[in-house]
Amino acid sequence: MRHDGRELENSVRIAVLGSGAGSNFSALAKACEDGRIQGEIMIVSSDQAEASILKKAAVFRIPTFIEKGGKEYSKRVAKRLTEASVDLVCLAGLMQIVRTPLLGAFPNRILNIHPSLLPRYPGKEAWKQALEDGASETGCTVHYVDTGIDTGEVILQETVPVFRGDTPETIHARIQEAEYRVYVEAVQQVITECADSDGG
Ligand code: GRF
Repeated sequence: MRHDGRELENSVRIAVLGSGAGSNFSALAKACEDGRIQGEIMIVSSDQAEASILKKAAVFRIPTFIEKGGKEYSKRVAKRLTEASVDLVCLAGLMQIVRTPLLGAFPNRILNIHPSLLPRYPGKEAWKQALEDGASETGCTVHYVDTGIDTGEVILQETVPVFRGDTPETIHARIQEAEYRVYVEAVQQVITECADSDGG
């Protein structure tokens, strides 16, 4: 387990960053509520003022903030998350590139969910890439975020079949069902491993 020595206690303080529908956020929030994740989502941020993830956060009564993209994006988000004493950052459909100030503020503590079996099909619309490639299976990956695009160390993956007659929409929907399982499991795995390496 990669660990920087900072302690993760019983209830880990989580931030979720996303730009879209927020269905992975909802899966994580439900898992925090019912104890499958020993953590609490303290804050949600989006770069899109109208993103549904913000409305979903409001349903869970979780504070939100909007941070538009741009040169200082990572620096500004790092400041907000540090002020909120966040331990773990979960990217869920964030359409911004996370750069050094944010990576440096949370070393090995930023996770992302990607809709393919990395290292295959990094980048945008990975489910479409799999379909166009004629793949018989694809899936999803939870990985640590590093300075590359979808290149960080893999934490967990789940394979999903591609059926004849699948459309981009049907395959993406099947991948998303797997994402909700695998993201919850990966977040709890990281929390457990950190607690174990802290001797608790
Ligand atoms: C997911 O498919 C995820 O893999 C990708 O963006 C999508 C986000 O969906 N990175 P949602 O906003 O969680 O519904």
